[in-house]
Amino acid sequence: MHNQDYARALLAWYDRDRRILPWRAAPGVAPDPYRVWLSEIMLQQTTVKAVLPRYADFLRRWPDVTALAAAELGEVLAAWAGLGYYARARNLHACAREVVARHGGRFPATEAELRALPGIGDYTAAAIAAIAFGARATPIDGNIERVVARLFAVATPLPAAKPEIRSLALALTPDERTGDFAQSLMDLGATLCSPRRPACGLCPLVSGCEGHAQGLAEVLPYRDAKAERPTRRGVAFVALRDDGAVLLRERPLKGLLGGMLETPSSPWTERGESAKAALSHAPLKAQWREVPGLVEHTFTHFHLELSVFFAEVSSEAKLAAAAHPERCRWVHVRDLYEAALPSLMRKVLAHALEEKTRPQARVAGAQPRARRRSA
Ligand code: ADE
Repeated sequence: MHNQDYARALLAWYDRDRRILPWRAAPGVAPDPYRVWLSEIMLQQTTVKAVLPRYADFLRRWPDVTALAAAELGEVLAAWAGLGYYARARNLHACAREVVARHGGRFPATEAELRALPGIGDYTAAAIAAIAFGARATPIDGNIERVVARLFAVATPLPAAKPEIRSLALALTPDERTGDFAQSLMDLGATLCSPRRPACGLCPLVSGCEGHAQGLAEVLPYRDAKAERPTRRGVAFVALRDDGAVLLRERPLKGLLGGMLETPSSPWTERGESAKAALSHAPLKAQWREVPGLVEHTFTHFHLELSVFFAEVSSEAKLAAAAHPERCRWVHVRDLYEAALPSLMRKVLAHALEEKTRPQARVAGAQPRARRRSA
């Protein structure tokens, strides 16, 4: 197969079998760059299935870039809660403000100008340039890397193979319908050319697929062994006030879960601490009880195991100076759903508040732990 044959076959398949997705303009209709940009940011590291309801919520609430630029960051973070990778939400908001302030509310059309905006890297700049503006640009994400590595039986393992895969993908890109071409590769990677058990029998490119011809489609792309994720441990403190509010704290804007709310906790370290030592990080003096069991959560670079301490406190409870009272606030349990709480913190709160309804909760340190931390 020649390069233009691949593109032709892919586009014909796309016209027939593409996924119907809300950010895709109907054939012949000009795409809205705002919608394309919003979808591409949300789809970074996130599945289409998880994105669909949030995408609809965002568009309903902020139908264009001017509306989003006028929102408060806190509102955007709260609407993003649960989607993860919160730097995306902070950058989304910063980008909307920059498009309004510097570009008169219109997204720029070139990859280079797009890449200069907050939260837009190589992949996203190429995706928006191609999909929204028809530029000859080729976004390359993990799905597309897999498709291209299989098509050309790339023997070099990832990540070293990236430049080779990039130049092969660029050579495949046609001059016309570049947005549809990019999305046809995305759809192929997300459907037929799946990581395990690719459906080669249904693939529009099977007759030109070197990986298939060599019987390697299932095992490509090769990858260097990944470093193992370390486990960090800490203690989270859930204080429930007698008026039904729980103590939450805003995390610093920079860094993991930046700007999101958390339950105060001890530092997360690989060594962890004894329950007693961890109690020195409690945000206020109270009868802290350790909730049996652990809350676990996996981030990109580490796995986290949190023990949870729970206390019921009076409205007069005073916060410890070390708890950063200026970043703390009491939020009523009924308002938690609307709060900028990441999934991890929702798990912590659910774990603690479930415990409250259990009759024989233990006093911290008074009895053996319910379950040892895993080694
Ligand atoms: N993943 C990232 N961008 C996408 C798009 N435009 N369509 C489908 N999946 C995607």
